[in-house]
Amino acid sequence: MKIRELINDLEKYKDSEVILQGWIRNSRFGKNVGFIELNDGSTFKNLQIVVSKDIENYDELDSQNLSASLEVEGKFVLTGNERNPYEVQATRISVLGESSDKFPIQKKRQPLEYMRTIPHLRARTNTYRAVFKVRSLLAYALHKFFQENGFTYVHPPIITASDAEGAGEMFNVTTLSPEEYPTKEDGSIDYSKDFFGKSAHLTVSGQLEAEDLALALGDVYTFGPTFRAEVSNTPRHAAEFWMLEPEMAFTDYNRAMDVAENMIKYAIDYVLENAKEETAFFNERIDEGLIDRLNKIRNADFARITYTKAVELLEEADEKFEYPVKWGIDLQTEHERYLSEKIVGGPVFVTDYPKEIKAFYMKRNDDGKTVAAFDMLVPGVGELIGGSQREERYDELVKSMEENGLNVDDYGNYLDLRRFGTVVHSGFGLGFERALMYVTGIKNIRDVIAYPRYVNAFTDKN
Ligand code: 4AD
Ligand code: MG
Repeated sequence: MKIRELINDLEKYKDSEVILQGWIRNSRFGKNVGFIELNDGSTFKNLQIVVSKDIENYDELDSQNLSASLEVEGKFVLTGNERNPYEVQATRISVLGESSDKFPIQKKRQPLEYMRTIPHLRARTNTYRAVFKVRSLLAYALHKFFQENGFTYVHPPIITASDAEGAGEMFNVTTLSPEEYPTKEDGSIDYSKDFFGKSAHLTVSGQLEAEDLALALGDVYTFGPTFRAEVSNTPRHAAEFWMLEPEMAFTDYNRAMDVAENMIKYAIDYVLENAKEETAFFNERIDEGLIDRLNKIRNADFARITYTKAVELLEEADEKFEYPVKWGIDLQTEHERYLSEKIVGGPVFVTDYPKEIKAFYMKRNDDGKTVAAFDMLVPGVGELIGGSQREERYDELVKSMEENGLNVDDYGNYLDLRRFGTVVHSGFGLGFERALMYVTGIKNIRDVIAYPRYVNAFTDKN
């Protein structure tokens, strides 16, 4: 096979011969000349291929359907025309793989709900190609941010025996047969006969292992898939999603918030700089005002308010919430969005939540009622980040585990950190897909994951 040039690299080949391979995104053929818009995945924009009637298989090319794959040989020329600054004048085109008129993505715009029914083909549209490109860039930007700031990338396990959030929303991992599983005398499942000798789950968060590593390496971060068996059929919840979790030793939650804020600004900068065509497309087609909003954030100081203050502000608001607000409730999406969209008008950290609604590992504040927690809420999405200072005091941690109904024996390793040189430490988790929704303006998490997993995903048509 000949080496292909990427459309992305073409500018260096002015007036020279190139060989390209790609798919037909559009075409129109006249009596004497045809135009094919070709895309090879390397650019957002299609490249125009000019096909003259002299090409021997002109009729064959004319009869091709959308998404047929081609090899094109021809001369790359700059046109001087602003809309189509360059084109390839083809001298030879061979059809590599025909398509058919049944190809489900025809020219007219189809709703994203429909696209979800064809996950294997939808990346061939502008919207999804742009999403997956930005997804890749955003992941890279986040890595770059942490690597440049001295963090070590660590890899907690996917299969674990403990529940990092203590919320019981885990998928089991087992090789026991659902028809014939061993039982103990009391009739319960005997996991000692299971593969790992104990009941095992897919991780909900790599935090507990990240804490172990932070107390040796200083500043660490994880970035990988996490799983939650939450029955939340919402546009912001997935059963399988990626989370980025920095964990920092000798760090209180104020510094952790600084890191979160800098990280978001850095990532936005990087995406705006490196995905200009994609963000312009999102701004035009998906979320008008996106670029202005993102630009504003680059220079803004993110607001920080306590949960207690947030509840007061919500109580004073002229808004009838579906879920009434009072001190002690867990903030719902409607409250989170109202706070960031209407009250603050940008990203906001809400801090110091009641201990009853937060995880067992969070540091208890001196008031005895709240914990040193923070959530970052952003317009359009709601909760983007959840984090906290960790309870580093052994006795307080045991007390909290007991109050949260956890079996202290299951967390021996975690308690050891508090026995052998404990330090103040903090961290947070960024929902990667939520960050992607935020920077693209896409409203449903199912449209930023190639193969979204959620309740009833395998029977639901979208
Ligand atoms: O707030 P969460 O549950 O926090 C943790 O898991 C901590 N262990 C993080 C830490 O301190 N290291 O989750 C963190 C973030 C949320 O703010 C949200 O953005 C995202 O993960 N998230 C989800 N994203 C998509 N689908 C879901 N079901 C999600 N659940 C949480
Ligand atoms: Mg949370």
